Amino acid sequence: MKAQNLILKINGEERSVTVRSADTVLFILRGRLGMTGSKPGCLNGDCGACTVNIDGWPMKSCLMLAVEAAGKEITTIEGLKDTPIQKAFVEHFAFQCGYCTPGFIMNCHSLIHHHPDADDKKIKEWLKSNICRCTGYEEIETAIKEVLKGGGRGAGE
Ligand code: FES
Ligand code: FES
Repeated sequence: MKAQNLILKINGEERSVTVRSADTVLFILRGRLGMTGSKPGCLNGDCGACTVNIDGWPMKSCLMLAVEAAGKEITTIEGLKDTPIQKAFVEHFAFQCGYCTPGFIMNCHSLIHHHPDADDKKIKEWLKSNICRCTGYEEIETAIKEVLKGGGRGAGE
């Protein structure tokens, strides 16, 4: 498989990386750049554990080729340190084993930005793309609502 050098913009930083045409964003993040926050789960788009934001929208990084991400803004869980949604997850115990948590936080971060007035229906609809084996959905919704109530301050791009 042919390899090429690519510049990827991740969490505001340009990173140079060698990729093969079939390498996914998830593989590059974890295997090449040592950014292990995005989790591999099903690897076929069902679980959402690998979710990152691409130009501000949630994207399952197991489904996107790294070459497709060139020229786009990639945000990963490592880039959301101390954001309101990350803190709200901690404050409301919105995780149990924590494996799904990075993906949920990325998804919620994007929801807050794009739908600052999200109602219960919108929140439930948005969360359908992610699965929590530990079934901590109620606490996740509480964390989102807390941030929305505060106006989503600092939700970022
Ligand atoms: S690992 Fe990507 S959706 Fe499950
Ligand atoms: S907290 Fe365990 S899978 Fe969600």
